[in-house]
Amino acid sequence: MSRLLSPLTLRGTTFRNRAWVAPMCQYSSADGFPSDWHLVHLGARATGGAGLVMTEATAVTPEGRISPADAGIWSDAQAQAYERITAFVRDQGAVPGIQLAHAGRKASTGRPWEGGGYVDPAEGGWQTVAPSPLAFGDWPVPKELSVDEIGQLVAAFADAARRAVASGFEVVEVHAAHGYLIHEFLSPLSNQRADGYGGDLDGRSRLLVEVVDAVRDVWPADRPVFVRLSATDWAEGGWTLEETVEVSRRLAAHGVDLVDVSSGGMVRHQEIAVGPGYQVPFAWAVRAGSGLHVAAVGLITEPLQAEQVLVDGSADAVMLARALLRDPAWPLRAAHQLGDDVAWPEPYQRARW
Ligand SMILES: Cc1cc2nc3c(=O)[nH]c(=O)nc-3n(C[C@H](O)[C@H](O)[C@H](O)COP(=O)(O)O)c2cc1C
Repeated sequence: MSRLLSPLTLRGTTFRNRAWVAPMCQYSSADGFPSDWHLVHLGARATGGAGLVMTEATAVTPEGRISPADAGIWSDAQAQAYERITAFVRDQGAVPGIQLAHAGRKASTGRPWEGGGYVDPAEGGWQTVAPSPLAFGDWPVPKELSVDEIGQLVAAFADAARRAVASGFEVVEVHAAHGYLIHEFLSPLSNQRADGYGGDLDGRSRLLVEVVDAVRDVWPADRPVFVRLSATDWAEGGWTLEETVEVSRRLAAHGVDLVDVSSGGMVRHQEIAVGPGYQVPFAWAVRAGSGLHVAAVGLITEPLQAEQVLVDGSADAVMLARALLRDPAWPLRAAHQLGDDVAWPEPYQRARW
């Protein structure tokens, strides 16, 4: 059996394999509700054999959405709407996971295929918030969050996590990457606060640690908590790999089970060295330096490439985004290619050999 198709257990949750669905915004929600699109999109990747099916960045408050068409879980009605999705995903043998997010100064934008720019409050957008009044590129200056408002956001993450348990999710991932709110606190490029939420690494990582503690508190002890981090801002004076490793090491003591290692998204002038598996060395560094489990993500597209990432000890699992959009049955195809005898959905049995 390949490592890619072998199971992994974190706390009380066993993933049937290590080929996982990366979180992917679908911009297909009205008022934050998951739609039929989400059932089919996430369901297809569950029937396609993924070990973990992670939802898109799901907003903990309406203002935390990247776009007005984003999914959210700030209400009990939204949480209820996820139940048929988590039930279907689980019935296929996959673990349903949810990424909880707040988009900070990168909120209130349009769908990418409609231009993706800032959406004005007069057109359904809203005033964005951030650690400091520093704009992302030429977008409007966000409002600086007060300490009270930060506390309310921490509570919103906890409330969202509590709802996600009721929805049937077995994994929760705190989105602390890609230039969104929690990453905005981590990076000196977006955080110039003079209070306890800024300054040194302790201050800049304080919100992340408070969110993790609040989520871990309501998340069942037998279910895993993930954190997605940008390992570097790819920009002068920004968040670094060394800080990523140090914060991951600290998160281990706060009940985090796995770090999902991405990068970038903080500033427009980032210079990313993109290529196959370009973020895998970051995953290796976090795994070696923190002792935590890690997932590698980013231009992992081929089964043998994914297998190598796992065999050489860079990661415990791989997450795929675009490859899984091209081929929802990528994990089944990988099993076929690697000669692994895994369970296929019964109606698909004739494609097995
Ligand atoms: C359509 C699309 C939507 C995405 N939405 C999210 C998201 O909601 N949250 C997130 O953390 N990353 C998001 N990403 C980034 C992916 O999770 C992944 O890290 C990135 O695409 C690199 O992996 P890949 O090379 O396998 O596509 C998105 C990517 C795509 C292609």
